[in-house]
This record gives sequence, structure tokens and C-alpha cells, in this order.
Amino acid sequence: MKKHLISIAYETYSTDYELPENTKILKEQAEKALGSAYAPYSNFQVSAALLLSNGEIITGSNQENAAYPSGMCAERTAFYYAGARFPESKIEAVFILARKQGESDFVPACPCGSCRQAMLEYEIRQNHPIKIFFKNKVEGFMSIDSVSDALPFKFDAASL
Ligand code: THU
Repeated sequence: MKKHLISIAYETYSTDYELPENTKILKEQAEKALGSAYAPYSNFQVSAALLLSNGEIITGSNQENAAYPSGMCAERTAFYYAGARFPESKIEAVFILARKQGESDFVPACPCGSCRQAMLEYEIRQNHPIKIFFKNKVEGFMSIDSVSDALPFKFDAASL
């Protein structure tokens, strides 16, 4: 038996000013998109803003349903729309925000396992890393350089 170690790098930004210049607009758009969340069951609003290689910004928010599993996370709403609308463009980055309905403060929300798996396939398909930004647990924000880093053990379509 052999033990192995995986190390993953991530960045932290203690204030908005430290965020990379091209992600400030992403954060703004993600904040706007929180307003379109439809979350009457969880009262938890999530949004995702994607920066595409053609300069477009695509946003999505969580859309719940009375038949609970039929609801959709913000990240997948945005990724599927980007894939359907701009299939030729690469997704460069995603900024994720979340808050409890009726509150203004953001809460930490790292993409769920299903969203990571879905986002990963876009990353593999476009052969270009997608940087993920989200709220840090302490203060400010953090980023991970690629979806692959956020899902080190992945189900890869290439093995089918
Ligand atoms: N949710 C997202 O939109 N993204 C995630 O990565 C995890 C959870 C949504 C689903 C549901 O509408 C609400 O957050 C509470 O789980």
C-alpha cells in the first residue's frame, strides 16, 4: 500500500479591491443575478456569473421546483445557457455568490458536487481551465484555478 498526497493551490482576496480587474464586473453581475433566484423552498439565493472568451457575461441563478429534485443550481443554469447560446466560446471564469433571502450579506458557497462534475465537462471539452471565485469562509473571496482542482477525483467522459 502506498499513500499519496494531492495539493491544491487557491487564492484569497480580503477585499473587493484585491480581486483581479476583470472579475469585478463579474461580481457585480452575480450580485444582480441573485435577484432572479427562485428559491421559495430553501430561501437560499445563489447566482453565478460567467466570463466568456468572446467578452460576454452570462448569469444564472438557482431555480427551485415543488418537485424538489427538478430544481436547478445557479452554476448549472448559467453553464448550460452559455453552452447552448455560445458553444464556440470558452468559459474563462465563474463568480458565485449566495445569500439568505431577505439578507444582504453574502454567505460562503462553494459549488456542490453535481455542479463541479457538470462544470468539469465544459472545462475538459474546451481544453482551457475555468477559474472559480466564491465567498471565503472568513472574509473576502477565494479562487481556485480550475474545476479540475476543485474535483481532483473526477468521472471523465473520456474513459467511457
Ligand atoms: N444551490 C446552488 O444553486 N448551487 C450550489 O452549488 C449548491 C446549492 C442551490 C440549490 C437550492 O436551490 C439551494 O441552493 C439550497 O440548496
